[in-house]
Amino acid sequence: MKNFYHNKTILITGASSGIGKDLALFYSAFNTKLILLARREDLLKQIQDECQKNGSEVLIFAADVSDRKKMEAIASDVLNQWGFVDIVIANAGVGGLNPADHFSLDLNQKFVAINILGLAYTLVPFIDSMKQNKKGILVGISSLAAFRGLPKAASYSSSKAAQGVFLESLRVDLKKYGISVCSIHPGFIETPMTDHDEFKMPFMVPVRKSSILIAKAIKRKKAVYLYPWPMRILTYINKKLPVCVYDYLVPRLSGQKQNTDSRTF
Ligand SMILES: NC(=O)c1ccc[n+]([C@@H]2O[C@H](COP(=O)([O-])OP(=O)(O)OC[C@H]3O[C@@H](n4cnc5c(N)ncnc54)[C@H](OP(=O)(O)O)[C@@H]3O)[C@@H](O)[C@H]2O)c1
Repeated sequence: MKNFYHNKTILITGASSGIGKDLALFYSAFNTKLILLARREDLLKQIQDECQKNGSEVLIFAADVSDRKKMEAIASDVLNQWGFVDIVIANAGVGGLNPADHFSLDLNQKFVAINILGLAYTLVPFIDSMKQNKKGILVGISSLAAFRGLPKAASYSSSKAAQGVFLESLRVDLKKYGISVCSIHPGFIETPMTDHDEFKMPFMVPVRKSSILIAKAIKRKKAVYLYPWPMRILTYINKKLPVCVYDYLVPRLSGQKQNTDSRTF
C-alpha cells in the first residue's frame, strides 16, 4: 500500500467527517499531497493540522459540492498549484429517509444536488488533465443501497444508484485514456451518518477498517467494490429476489420504525 500511495496527490470531498476524514488521516501517513473539501472549515482546519503533523502537504477548501462554479474554480486552482491530481475521491454525501407516504420533494432535491450533481461536479473537472497525462483514478463512494429501492429510502437509494451508473459509464468511456474509475459501495460504516437507531445495521464496519478496504480497492483499480463481504453476499441475494419476495421480506427484515419522518443523517 505504502509504495502505491507514496507521494500521490489525492483530493477527498466530505473530508470533515466520517469516511472522508478517516481516509485523509490514513493517506497522510504516506507523504501524500492532500486536497480536503467540505463545508465545515473549522473541522477541515483541525484535520489539516493532524495530516500535516503526519507529514502530508494539505490544501483545504470550504465548499458545497453542489455549487458547480465553485467546484470548477477549485479544480483549476488545485491544478494550477499542484499540476496534477492522481486520485479524486467523490465521497461527500447525505444519507437519510424519505418515506413515500409523506415524501418531501425538497429533501429529494437535496439528495439529487449533493449526491448526484455533487459527484459529477467533483470528478468531471479533472478529466481533461487526466486525459492529457494519460493516467489518474476517479473514485465515487456510492453505497450498497444503490442496488435496490430500499424502504423509506427512495431519495437515498436512487441517488446512490445514479452514482453507480454514472461511474460505470465514465469507466467505459475513459479506459482508453488510461483513466481508471472505481465505484465503491460500502455497507454500514461507523460514522456520524450511522449514529442513529432508525433501522437495523448489521455487520457494521469500523471507519479505519473501511479506509483500509477502500485504499486497497483503489490501489487494485477495482471497477466496482462492495464491502464488507457478508453484506456483499446479502446484496447479491437481495438483487436476485423476485419482486413479490422482495416486497414482502425486506420491509419486515429492515427493522425500520413505523412513523419515520423525512430526514437526513
Ligand atoms: N456511513 C455509512 O454507513 C455509509 C454507507 C454507505 C455509503 N456511505 C457514503 O459515504 C459517504 C460519506 O459518508 P459518512 O458516513 O462519512 O458520513 P458523514 O460522517 O455524515 O460525512 C459526510 C461528509 O460529507 C460532507 N458533505 C455533506 N454534504 C456536503 C455538501 N453539500 N458539500 C460538501 N460536503 C458535503 C460533510 O461535510 P460538511 O457537512 O462539513 O460539508 C461530511 O464531511 C457518503 O456519500 C455516504 O452516502 C456511507
